[in-house]
Amino acid sequence: MLFIWQVAVHADARGQGLGQRMLQHLLARTGLEQLRYIETTVSPDNQASRSMFSNMAQRLNTSLNENVLFETHHFGKHAHEEEPLLRIGPLPHG
Ligand SMILES: CC(C)(COP(=O)(O)OP(=O)(O)OC[C@H]1O[C@@H](n2cnc3c(N)ncnc32)[C@H](O)[C@@H]1OP(=O)(O)O)[C@@H](O)C(=O)NCCC(=O)NCCS
Repeated sequence: MLFIWQVAVHADARGQGLGQRMLQHLLARTGLEQLRYIETTVSPDNQASRSMFSNMAQRLNTSLNENVLFETHHFGKHAHEEEPLLRIGPLPHG
């Protein structure tokens, strides 16, 4: 399982597929040939990130499932949105 934490594209370069291409580049790295699942956390209102990961699941011809992980109360007094867990897989070559 590969956990992807923090993907960022400069605001001027967003919406051109760069995020998707970075993920593809990441998956092509040596050592990930047996990878079966990808996990990440994405807040509910982060539509760009959600689209990027759901596009990734479609491109890999596999599923994207969402489960509760970090809830608002886990962040204590620091106001922060919940961070559900997104799991993509199984990957076809795993
Ligand atoms: C998430 C992020 C990395 C995506 O990068 P990107 O290069 O714009 O990604 P892509 O071009 O591959 O587009 C991803 C999808 O988001 C959509 N999208 C882009 N900007 C959007 C916006 N402001 N609102 C809603 N959707 C948006 C695109 O249309 C695309 O979906 P589609 O193919 O179904 O049309 C970028 O928006 C970013 O850096 N955001 C701030 C940091 C962040 O929140 N990172 C993720 C959490 S760690």
